[in-house]
Amino acid sequence: MSNRTPAKRRGAKAARGWRTAAGSDRHELYEESVQSPEEEAAFIDRVFRSIRGRTPVTLREDFCGTHFLSATWVQRRATNRAVGFDLHRPTVAWGRARRAAAMKPAQLGRLDIRIGDVRTARSEPVDVLAAFNFSYYLFKRRQDLIAYFRHARTQLKRDGVMFVDCYGGYESFSEQTEERDLDGFTYQWQTERYDPVSGDVLNHIHFVFPDGTRLRKAFTYDWRLWTIPEIRECLAEAGFRGTHVYWEGTDHATGEGDGVFRKTAVGEACGGWIAYIAAEK
Ligand SMILES: C[S@@+](CC[C@H](N)C(=O)[O-])C[C@H]1O[C@@H](n2cnc3c(N)ncnc32)[C@H](O)[C@@H]1O
Repeated sequence: MSNRTPAKRRGAKAARGWRTAAGSDRHELYEESVQSPEEEAAFIDRVFRSIRGRTPVTLREDFCGTHFLSATWVQRRATNRAVGFDLHRPTVAWGRARRAAAMKPAQLGRLDIRIGDVRTARSEPVDVLAAFNFSYYLFKRRQDLIAYFRHARTQLKRDGVMFVDCYGGYESFSEQTEERDLDGFTYQWQTERYDPVSGDVLNHIHFVFPDGTRLRKAFTYDWRLWTIPEIRECLAEAGFRGTHVYWEGTDHATGEGDGVFRKTAVGEACGGWIAYIAAEK
């Protein structure tokens, strides 16, 4: 059995020394806590090749925020291109400044980040559409989730594949805070409220520092806690021909996830899990 909070990064000792709330940037801490774009880009490549027998080139990142995945995608291969959509200008601007400082002009030239609503935004048909970090959980009603998936499907090439991640486990239904020590700070994932009648869940990310200072409610998510069968049913209703679920293996030394996601027909009733779904157009 493995237990994990919705954070794809594993714990690490402070390589950069101790941090403080005043000296920290919440987007930087977010990227360090909950994103693993290199692993996700490698996963997308592997799964797309196994389904389609070719290497994907174009990626659309919905809810792209600081567009870490899109940036990683174009850095991965000189032929790769990415387009990203997000509604929140300040977050996109933070990402733009960050990427401009870290990427070569040729890579930036293959990265197209736009302000737009993923429910209606149009772009050139892509091989891969990724919606990660559970962002689509903000669609609380079934018809809204299906409408989003239906639109996303139209943005794929004929043999395109949509990738979404999902989380769950019995701990995700309980009102509690879990934490993980990272590089000079502690990441906390709080489920403030879960309502079994509506399925709505209210989560917060807090960051706590060794000097006792904290960034409380650095991020808040008012979501519907969708289950894998519900998500697959919505994808099917939106017109996707087939869906595949990828479940994380367990590192038996730590009891944590090992970061390797394999196709499965059966999961594990553990306290906390993260999984991916690949949906074929
Ligand atoms: C949970 S964050 C995910 C950021 C990033 N995808 C990641 O993997 O960490 C959700 C993002 O979705 C954006 N968002 C919410 N509703 C949206 C919509 N309808 N269209 C585009 N972006 C939206 C928010 O501005 C926010 O940046």
